[in-house]
Amino acid sequence: MSDAKTSNQMWGGRFAAGPAAVMEAINASIGFDRKLYAQDIRGSLAHAEMLAETGIISKADQEKIAHGLNTILKEIEDGRFVFSTKLEDIHMNVEARLAELIGPAAGRLHTARSRNDQVAVDFRLWVKDELLRVADVLKGLMGVLLARAEEHAATVMPGFTHLQTAQPVTFGHHCMAYVEMFSRDLSRVRDALERMDESPLGAAALAGTGFPIDRHRTAAALGFREPTRNSLDSVSDRDFALEFLAIAAICATHLSRLAEEIVIWSTPQFAFVRLSDSFSTGSSIMPQKKNPDAAELVRAKTGRVNGHLIGLLTVMKGLPLTYSKDMQEDKEAVFDTAETLDLMLAAMTGMMGDLTVNAAAMKKAAGSGYATATDLADWLVRTLGLPFREAHHVTGRAVALAERNGVALDRLPLADLQAIHPGITADVFSVLTVQKSVNSRKSLGGTAPAEVKRQIRYWKKRLAKA
Ligand code: ARG
Repeated sequence: MSDAKTSNQMWGGRFAAGPAAVMEAINASIGFDRKLYAQDIRGSLAHAEMLAETGIISKADQEKIAHGLNTILKEIEDGRFVFSTKLEDIHMNVEARLAELIGPAAGRLHTARSRNDQVAVDFRLWVKDELLRVADVLKGLMGVLLARAEEHAATVMPGFTHLQTAQPVTFGHHCMAYVEMFSRDLSRVRDALERMDESPLGAAALAGTGFPIDRHRTAAALGFREPTRNSLDSVSDRDFALEFLAIAAICATHLSRLAEEIVIWSTPQFAFVRLSDSFSTGSSIMPQKKNPDAAELVRAKTGRVNGHLIGLLTVMKGLPLTYSKDMQEDKEAVFDTAETLDLMLAAMTGMMGDLTVNAAAMKKAAGSGYATATDLADWLVRTLGLPFREAHHVTGRAVALAERNGVALDRLPLADLQAIHPGITADVFSVLTVQKSVNSRKSLGGTAPAEVKRQIRYWKKRLAKA
């Protein structure tokens, strides 16, 4: 029964060394927070420099520390660093190795600092870097959408409400709707970056420190606008991570809606678009199939990204000030979200870049479903001075008749239309075609090709400056 001594019989099966091993397994974050190595070393270099400048440690010790930290950076980057679970996290792994490399001077690095402000600054730096990358990727996707919109500013398709044919629009206009959405994501990224641009380093464990540190100095060295103002908040705040997750969730939701449209558009029933071979898969049993897997996975991964936001909100909601170990759970949510969102954005940029638009199928669909019924009603209002409600009623009767006869609205004989309302003249046919309908919607933000092109010019200019 030597096992019983080392491993709990009820739950210790997987653990060779008893309760301590379970503790180590639940406590350690090195398995994931090693991703923070570069930020951790950057933070330590800045801290040590400040400690030397303020006379808290000697210049000689600081130089040793800097040399050791740079060696460690290289070791990690070359894959030579041995991470240890016993040392819990990235902070202690780096510090232990520093002690091996430079001896007792390593022990001075943690003066006037705690892992609480250390992890807060490391993680902020990481999220900042990631958001800057997301901004670039978003701009890339917007560029692709703008190009497709330009190409198809006049390509008519049905516009939908309730996924029922509503009024004709253009594919370019539809692409530009997503440009608007992703531009809001981009502006959320910028807002969040602005807010998180404060360094928590120097808050120490929670209450600040008695050492004469210079927090402005470390904030500037790490590229922050300024230091945070309240030490308690500094070590317990994870808003920057929550904001990142919220931005990602909203952006993922936009991607998912576009993905859903691609799934619908690429069915043989719609056949509005054809995905390139590189963004679709075949079926192992049904040779005719071409599946929009990438779009489906963009749609599905949104569930995972949204889940991470709820996950971290739930971790944070019950925490008293200041730091609690619960907060260690912030990292996997953020890391996985970053990786997932990157992949989703890349897949969407690729798909939208090389899908083929079937303009003929779009045009045919735009002409069916009585998509120009509103144009008839508007004509009755404009030309005959009918109140819109009455015009709506007259048009409804015309649609019912067309439906009974199995023809499009513009194929109804004039006499039939006049039987519904005697004031109708042949001039009505000038508004009943899809092209006329689309061309007429010149109001600001409307679907007329001229207006869509104007919006494209606006965004091209804005994006060039962004
Ligand atoms: N690994 C920890 C985290 O990610 C670092 C902070 C630990 N602080 C502490 N007081 N135990 O949150």
